[in-house]
Amino acid sequence: MVPSFFFAVLPLLFTAALSQGFPNPRPCTGACNVRDPGLVRRTSDGSYFLFSTHEKIKYASAKQLEGPWTAVGSVVPQGSKIDLAGKNDLWAPDVFKLGDRYHVYYSVSTLGSQTSAIGLATSPDLKPGTWTDHGSIGVESDPSKPYNAIDGNLFVEGNTVRLNFGSYWHNIFQVRMNGDGTKATSNPTQIAYEPAGNHAIEGSYMYKHGGAYYLFYSIGLAGHYDDNKPAPGQEYRIKVCKSSSPTGGFVGPAGKPCTKGGGMLVMASHGDVYGPGGQGVLTHPEHGPVLYYHYTNTTIGWSNSQQRFGWNPLDFSSGWPVAKP
Ligand SMILES: *[C@@H]1O[C@H](CO)[C@@H](O)[C@H](O)[C@H]1NC(C)=O
Repeated sequence: MVPSFFFAVLPLLFTAALSQGFPNPRPCTGACNVRDPGLVRRTSDGSYFLFSTHEKIKYASAKQLEGPWTAVGSVVPQGSKIDLAGKNDLWAPDVFKLGDRYHVYYSVSTLGSQTSAIGLATSPDLKPGTWTDHGSIGVESDPSKPYNAIDGNLFVEGNTVRLNFGSYWHNIFQVRMNGDGTKATSNPTQIAYEPAGNHAIEGSYMYKHGGAYYLFYSIGLAGHYDDNKPAPGQEYRIKVCKSSSPTGGFVGPAGKPCTKGGGMLVMASHGDVYGPGGQGVLTHPEHGPVLYYHYTNTTIGWSNSQQRFGWNPLDFSSGWPVAKP
């Protein structure tokens, strides 16, 4: 007789086998200490710019993703025009070229607070000193709202501009934006929700591939692992959902709605990689779609400031993105 615990542990064994299958990140040299990375390729010369949380959205550039990355400066060196606590400690940049300008959406908030806003800074060429801070894009929150206005992610298709955001609180929402991506023009609608655990999903990134819309996001506890180590399996990890529409209907591989906790793991702790998240996807001229993220290297150290830039090409041949070594 097969003991019943066998059936209980079987799914765990599969999960363990899968997570051992996650590849290590490709190498990174130079200024690789980042948190919540945002990545863009400059169209004029093909060089890469890597934005991250803290130092008023610090950024670095490199000729290739491997580096060497060189620090460039800060996007909003005077602090944000948004007059909220956190205006000098900006988070989670998302960068996108819209029209002839590079847009960096940043978050103004403080840890554990729902009083937040998403701001925008633009530049024609990504050079230091060329940034204009536009302040709030009208995506704002306080404790009376179901969402938290952080982690903006612009998604442009033709003339239609959308911004995914949030949230930790009630997870991922979406608004319509005006054509130049400077102001929200609709109320937020919820597009993903995790009912289990602490409902901690945030940092969405939408990517279109092969006619389908993929919604990547981070789930779990993001950091401060040196002070407060999460229970095993509760640390940051990256999930993805898929839909035939950018505005909703996202499901996991078995069809479970992503408003009910569906989705597939794309990257999670393995080996000396711990707590990967804060991700995005870049279309690379040689590698194709590339997943990029931050992670803790447990051999190096557990503090947020030691988190590193990781990236892997994605294989979409199964219809679902799989990180490649
Ligand atoms: C972690 O850091 C150690 C020491 O620098 C290095 O040998 C190892 O390759 C790193 N692992 C990853 C996944 O970056």
